[in-house]
Amino acid sequence: MRSKVIIRPLAVLVAFAASAVIASSVFAQGDVTKETDFRKIKPPSAHGTVLMNRSTASSTEVKPVVFPHWAHRDKYSCKACHTDIGFKLKSNTTGVTQADIEAGKYCGECHNGKAAFAATECGRCHSYGTEVKENRKFDDAVKGLPADHFGNKVDWVKALSEKKIKAGPLPGGKDDLQALDLDIIIPAAKFTPHPPDVKFPHKPHTEQIDCATCHTAIFKQQKGGNPEMNMMKIIAGQYCGVCHTKVAFPLDDCFRCHSQPAPKAEEPEKDKKDKKDEKTGE
Ligand code: HEC
Ligand code: HEC
Ligand code: HEC
Ligand code: HEC
Ligand code: HEC
Ligand code: HEC
Repeated sequence: MRSKVIIRPLAVLVAFAASAVIASSVFAQGDVTKETDFRKIKPPSAHGTVLMNRSTASSTEVKPVVFPHWAHRDKYSCKACHTDIGFKLKSNTTGVTQADIEAGKYCGECHNGKAAFAATECGRCHSYGTEVKENRKFDDAVKGLPADHFGNKVDWVKALSEKKIKAGPLPGGKDDLQALDLDIIIPAAKFTPHPPDVKFPHKPHTEQIDCATCHTAIFKQQKGGNPEMNMMKIIAGQYCGVCHTKVAFPLDDCFRCHSQPAPKAEEPEKDKKDKKDEKTGE
């Protein structure tokens, strides 16, 4: 019964996903979203958009800053900003000040009136809760890029391989990323019956992210070297969850990671017993 073998692990995944959907509607009835931090359904333009209000939350002079990844990741690699400039991979943890920016650091590496609009156009960055007239529109920016079902609804991996976007260095910098073509199968065997195993492909990651971002800050550099990793920790923002959902495609897209052939389902206890009975004639 081949169909049965395939359906059972799928059913587990579907049940997980369904419970997430049901849970969100239950939470919506009483507003516990703050306590649970439950992910709301966001429009594609809001996926990967970061609110920076570390020093501007209570400013009377300016609004907090809204940083859209989509407006940048079609030109620059993650490495350019997160390694070369040093923006941290968690919102509101980088000690950036307006004085830094005007001195050509952080956003000011590019927002100097040459590579991008100047640091004097306050309202284009300090835009929380406002309409920005000059904004490049999200729909125009992603038009013609290969589509996907989740997140920005853009398949950023395909967009890069089809050269529709660049993952380039900082202005004036050199592209020194070296892609590594190495797939690693991570078994997802901590539950029974377990979902399809995960394939982690180095290539699409290392085309835009340098080794040191992951090794060993996030993952020990060894197959099977991260035995503490599990799905709950990933959902809580560790391991793959450092990027996936926040900026890279969200965790809702189970099978893009759990992409290996479904494992063989174990026979239910009852069937085993029946077979034994047949053999022994008991
Ligand atoms: C033009 C610069 C730039 C590029 C390119 C860029 N980022 Fe970011 N990223 C930022 C900034 C700025 C922040 C906010 C940092 C802060 O608030 O301390 C950020 C924050 C993040 C966060 C934390 C988000 C959160 O909600 O906590 C993640 C994850 C992240 N980036 C991943 C990526 C990935 C993956 C790529 C490549 C696909 C990428 N970034 C490309 C500038 C950039
Ligand atoms: C290219 C984007 C950008 C532009 C343009 C910009 N800022 Fe900022 N500014 C930031 C970021 C990022 C922060 C840090 C925000 C945070 O973490 O809360 C910041 C912080 C600030 C702060 C908080 C205190 C401090 O000194 O760091 C003030 C005040 C401020 N900006 C004023 C201005 C004014 C006035 C202008 C226009 C002359 C301006 N900004 C233009 C990105 C920008
Ligand atoms: C590596 C270069 C680079 C860095 C670093 C960078 N930007 Fe940009 N940014 C660009 C370019 C290029 C554009 C698109 C061209 C333009 O609009 O001038 C852009 C566009 C934007 C836009 C879209 C606004 C609009 O009106 O279209 C915002 C908002 C923005 N950047 C904010 C920021 C903030 C805030 C930071 C720092 C936290 C930052 N950027 C850091 C290069 C950069
Ligand atoms: C986005 C994160 C990420 C980046 C970037 C990354 N790796 Fe990895 N790497 C992983 C993960 C995840 C594993 C598997 C760990 C496990 O099985 O627990 C791994 C495993 C490895 C292994 C072990 C292979 C084995 O058979 O034991 C090597 C070697 C490795 N990476 C080299 C590199 C090099 C070299 C680079 C840069 C060119 C790089 N990685 C960039 C996430 C990353
Ligand atoms: C440092 C950030 C980061 C971490 C950590 C990370 N990823 Fe990714 N991953 C990305 C980015 C960026 C992409 C490009 C696609 C996108 O942005 O949606 C990507 C793409 C992928 C793809 C799509 C490949 C394709 O060919 O379409 C898979 C599968 C994937 N990641 C699996 C994983 C798994 C599994 C882990 C954890 C073991 C992981 N990633 C950890 C940033 C990250
Ligand atoms: C970004 C990649 C990624 C996505 C997307 C993803 N997972 Fe996982 N998942 C993993 C990794 C990696 C493991 C293996 C953890 C381990 O055991 O080392 C895992 C393990 C699991 C396990 C086994 C139990 C455990 O905690 O290890 C279950 C069940 C699971 N995932 C369910 C899901 C469901 C349901 C979805 C979609 C809603 C999903 N996953 C989406 C990467 C992903």
